[in-house]
Amino acid sequence: MGDFESLFMEKILVIGAAGQLGSELTKSLTDLFGSESVIATDLQESARSKFDYCRFEVLDVMNKEALRNLVKNEKVSQIYHLAAVLSATGEKKPIFAWHLNMESLLFVLELANEFKLDKVYWPSSIAVFGPNTPKINTPQYCVKEPNTVYGISKQAGERWCEYYFQKFNVDVRSLRYPGLIGYKSLPGGGTTDYAVDIYHKAIAGTDFNCFLKSDTSLPMMYMPDAIKATMDLMNAPRESVKIRSSYNLAAMSFTPEEIYQSILPFFPDFKIAYNPDFRQAIADSWPDSIDDSFARKDWGWSPDYDLNAMTSDILKNLPDFFPSKN
Ligand code: SER
Repeated sequence: MGDFESLFMEKILVIGAAGQLGSELTKSLTDLFGSESVIATDLQESARSKFDYCRFEVLDVMNKEALRNLVKNEKVSQIYHLAAVLSATGEKKPIFAWHLNMESLLFVLELANEFKLDKVYWPSSIAVFGPNTPKINTPQYCVKEPNTVYGISKQAGERWCEYYFQKFNVDVRSLRYPGLIGYKSLPGGGTTDYAVDIYHKAIAGTDFNCFLKSDTSLPMMYMPDAIKATMDLMNAPRESVKIRSSYNLAAMSFTPEEIYQSILPFFPDFKIAYNPDFRQAIADSWPDSIDDSFARKDWGWSPDYDLNAMTSDILKNLPDFFPSKN
């Protein structure tokens, strides 16, 4: 069977499809596999309106029986498991975050093994790194002592992914995303989400109150690059995917002051104030920049967007996407 025919036999289940990543990745998956082949799922019925281009089902990933039935009845062949509690929200509800992030991954890995799924995608994060990690050009392999519940759950999750690959041959693939910045969904409880919110404030004409210090550098990525990386990793030949925990991935690094300066030429009256809160400690524990040479070497990764290209694209497109903010 040719690659073209095999594409149309896939049945893709996206869990957490209405989140920051899912809102955009689900569309790219539908463009590739066709609207009948993609089932978007999320916790709330209200998310249905986002998915007029593919199927949609309400699903609580913690309901293992409902998840199993969906996988079985729909003959699902790939799962993209994107549901998670992010770093800042996780610090407010640590036990809940651990429970949701870990158990849902184990459900998915178990089902992947039981039903011999073709592939599983699960996102990891720069949050796996911690205060004792080298901060500049953080290597793929180094000390990881995450001190957020989100980071601990991602680190443990990476070990489980590799375990299921080695013990059960589950073809699970993963990326350690930097902070992801897109204009198609609102901030979702992450420490890096200030860099989403700042564009909404600039366009709305309100001052921006930044919860990080002006010079806090973090690794970041514009959403089209994150989607490209995810699709490229998932479409890479199995033997090219040599890392089965999770790949380092990078595009750019910037500080709050630098993103503010990139917006100023478009909105010269835009004002920023810095009032760091508990999220500063989270940001301080993460790398400034990431070495992603394994992703570049194994499956040809390279990003398209830098800070200025991202800013002009977002400021051009965001007002149409959230017209009420005008
Ligand atoms: N963007 C995430 C967060 O800030 C990190 O993966 O929680």
